[in-house]
Amino acid sequence: MCGIVGYTGPNQAVGYLLEGLKTLEYRGYDSAGVEVVGTDGALHGVKCAGRVSALVERCETANLVGTTGIAHTRWATHGAPTERNSHPHRDCSGRISVVHNGIIENFRELRGYLRRNGHELVSETDSEVIAHLIEDAWEGPSRGDLVGAVRSAVGRLEGSWALAVVCADAPGQIVCARNGSPLVVASTSDGAYAASDVTPLASVTSHVIQLENGQVARLEQTGRVSVFDEHGVEVGAPSSMDIDWDASAATLGGYADFMAKEIAEQPEAIERLLTGRMGSRGVLLDELALSREELAAIDRVYLIACGTSYHVGLIARTLIQTWAHVPVVCDYASEFNYERDVLVTPNTLCVVITQSGETADTLTAARRMRGMGCKVFAITNVLGSTAARESDGVLYVQAGPEVCVASTKAYTAQMVASALLALRLAEARGAMGHEEAERHYRDLCALPDLIREVISRSWQDKRAAAVFRRAHSALFLGRGVNATTAYEGALKLKEISYLHAEAYPAGEMKHGPIALLEPGFPVVAIVPEDRVHDKTVSNIQEVIARGATCVAVATDGDESVASLVEHVLWIPAAPDELLVPIVAVVHLQMLARYVARLRGCDVDKPRNLAKSVTVE
Ligand code: F6R
Repeated sequence: MCGIVGYTGPNQAVGYLLEGLKTLEYRGYDSAGVEVVGTDGALHGVKCAGRVSALVERCETANLVGTTGIAHTRWATHGAPTERNSHPHRDCSGRISVVHNGIIENFRELRGYLRRNGHELVSETDSEVIAHLIEDAWEGPSRGDLVGAVRSAVGRLEGSWALAVVCADAPGQIVCARNGSPLVVASTSDGAYAASDVTPLASVTSHVIQLENGQVARLEQTGRVSVFDEHGVEVGAPSSMDIDWDASAATLGGYADFMAKEIAEQPEAIERLLTGRMGSRGVLLDELALSREELAAIDRVYLIACGTSYHVGLIARTLIQTWAHVPVVCDYASEFNYERDVLVTPNTLCVVITQSGETADTLTAARRMRGMGCKVFAITNVLGSTAARESDGVLYVQAGPEVCVASTKAYTAQMVASALLALRLAEARGAMGHEEAERHYRDLCALPDLIREVISRSWQDKRAAAVFRRAHSALFLGRGVNATTAYEGALKLKEISYLHAEAYPAGEMKHGPIALLEPGFPVVAIVPEDRVHDKTVSNIQEVIARGATCVAVATDGDESVASLVEHVLWIPAAPDELLVPIVAVVHLQMLARYVARLRGCDVDKPRNLAKSVTVE
């Protein structure tokens, strides 16, 4: 979850390192640090608790001069977010410095070993042991060989790591290592670069090398990059990819925050994803990498994901079961991984849904399913991510970089991607004819304009946000597919406004949550025109009867709702009620954002969270 960036080349390092950290800050933002190999042959660094902006301020007076350096933005796992625990971490001699993303599971044992051997460890982190293990190797058999020293150190580690290491006695070099946590490096005519993901590299190159698990890379000042496998043998053609992300896509471009920008980008993202997907013989989804026969044979689908992506899975379950008539199991990855009995058939398809493609729980689940002989298909947003690389097929949702920690455009794009998958499966299995599939495709193509319309009504969300300003809790209700919209709305609200929110299928309210209601208690009901509309209206009546304040998401012109509730968030009628969640959720994204702003919260970087959750 932490962000790493490194540079060695002809230019001063600090400017690029700090800019790089800013683009990676979504990975973690509780403390940050930077270290360069100075022209005097010593390491010079600055670290501090807090955000990258605090580090930038400190660096203004620190005058860090050096053309080789590493930097880090942290999401604490071991040890509080203090200056002492922030990275980079040095060895005893102060000549080796390390930034780390991941978790060292055997760090207690290693700390004991290092202390017994005279090392002085100053932080509470698991990461610091790595610097001291490298020091041991450097002082011993690997003197003068930073790659060898890093290889020797990682040989003693258990857990996950992406590392970048500099050594004052190996000037002009950065050595990187990867196991479990992502790391990309790049060779350019202007030096060599390393980063946790491609975001900071998009401004300097269009081609990156993705380190594989077990690999170690040496970056040199000339821009040369050498990659070594776990046996220390140089890899001739390391895995690489072209980045087609526009660097400006990760900037605010005039919006107040990334959440506002990413909400606004949803129509275009969906259009991009849908373009050219309907051929004369059906839905075009070659990414599935399964023949029509193999698809037709699929008799069970497992959908596995976390957080917002899990909510995509719930919608996908309905779409696949309804359209393709295949039984679907949808599970949280963190639960699935510890389930004893997973019932798979030889023709089970596993679909992992993950915006980042790096969520540790989801990757573990995918590996487990592959281990059981299932084909694994990934729906993801991040090009070349681990989920993409470890799957049999991958559908990129092409939403562009999602910087705000709270997922918005990836959520709606992933739902549309799931709909395409459901249609493809339905056709291959003969559950749906071509004409019907075309009709559904046309319905999907109507979504961008419907979302544009909802976005133009953001003033409704702004007005309704006042209801939540001083609230302590809120209840979200919806039925059928829109129970999921309620779950997602509650998740958005709690994660960015720190307001406790709970979501229930509306019909379940009477079995417990109704006890929460009292005058003024805020309730959000999602009640579009659909087959369960009248039942949900009855639930709203129950809410109103207890004096609660109700905000409803309803279809244009629905007076039966407007006459009951305090605020209506209007949505235009959607061509298919199964697609309403893709439209209705946009109001709940905007509502959560307005509430968070009213309550003085940082909508892009909510406390305690990180965009890419690479620990289990
Ligand atoms: C909430 C949110 C998270 C992520 C979850 C999974 O707004 O963004 O709940 O959905 O951490 O992340 P991915 O999709 O990257 O696997």
